[in-house]
Amino acid sequence: MKVYGDLRPPERLLLGAGPSNIDPRVLKAMTLPIVEHLDPYFSEVMNETVEMLRYAFKTENRVTFPISGTGSAGMESAICNVVEGGDEVVVCISGFFGERMSDMVQRCGGKSVEVRAPLGGVVEKDRVEEALANSNAKAVAIVHAETSTGVLQPLKEISKITHEYGALLIVDAVTSLGGCELLVDEWGIDICYSASQKCLGCPPGLAPITVSERAMNIIRNRRTKVQSWYFDISMIEKYWLESNRIYHHTAPIPLVYALREGLRLLHEEGLEDRWMRHKENMQLLVEGIEEIGLTIFTDKRYLCPAITAINIPENIGDERVRRILREEYNITISGGLGALKGKIWRIGLMGINSTRKNALLATEALKNALKKEGYCKNR
Ligand SMILES: Cc1ncc(COP(=O)(O)O)c(C=O)c1O
Repeated sequence: MKVYGDLRPPERLLLGAGPSNIDPRVLKAMTLPIVEHLDPYFSEVMNETVEMLRYAFKTENRVTFPISGTGSAGMESAICNVVEGGDEVVVCISGFFGERMSDMVQRCGGKSVEVRAPLGGVVEKDRVEEALANSNAKAVAIVHAETSTGVLQPLKEISKITHEYGALLIVDAVTSLGGCELLVDEWGIDICYSASQKCLGCPPGLAPITVSERAMNIIRNRRTKVQSWYFDISMIEKYWLESNRIYHHTAPIPLVYALREGLRLLHEEGLEDRWMRHKENMQLLVEGIEEIGLTIFTDKRYLCPAITAINIPENIGDERVRRILREEYNITISGGLGALKGKIWRIGLMGINSTRKNALLATEALKNALKKEGYCKNR
């Protein structure tokens, strides 16, 4: 009979596009005793998790909780609760994850009115306005931190124009929540979702979401049932937010413990300090990268504090360099996605990984790996 060995995953420094490394306090929280999903103790954990999520999103929205599932489950929830057959949605596409939003709108029977931006750039407000003027859009969907290009998309103006046309603003904050400035209420975001495994520094598996009352009114007055039973927000809210909690699905208890601990760390540090830490370490990384002769892929006016996209120099093997980093330094960085495969590297400094030390280490390791590959500055 085959004997299966113990799990012995390597302890890598995860400086890619996510997941990021997990604080020992979060790991420990996951090992605590499981209680039932309707236990009064767990109910208290849920309430505190919701409170701290509101803090992280900078919102007063009552409807705020984690969806069970990864970031894509947050995306799917946001879109399938709003979109009914024939609805138009302006989808802003500046990279891989904007494309995914557009696909989801279409799968819900909606019509995606696509507004595209060059990879590495942002979606311009005027283009969104043009699309709104030429459609009957129910919502505008946009990615805040486009992880595939390293862009941090400004949202304030787009939000204003979206509301002038009476549409809802749906924002993907998978990579930005807890690492980059994000003001859900002040910026007028109607639905914002994220993921546990990036700047919140938790394991993958939960997708925090927050929904404005305006959006909830539209969702509650749909003509048709939400296509997805599992992601129907009006049903999930009865479990997460009502005092006599109604069973919807068995919550992934250890993941909720982990998220609560991750949020507690965020709360202890302070949101604004956390944003500043991510920004400063990203800037240090960018300086180091340029110092060794590499160039940044992203338009430098819109650099995302959580992820940095770097052009791969000509004749340098993308995968070979990443293998050297993995095998000799135990560091994981990411390659490009979709059209950017083989063209860029992406270094993430997220959650506990956003430190001066890691910014300097990533630069040094990349410099040495490139040297091995025969790269020399100013060639
Ligand atoms: C901006 C963005 N949106 C959505 C997702 C999808 O999240 P997940 O892979 O957790 O499903 C990701 C994942 O990296 C992302 O970066």
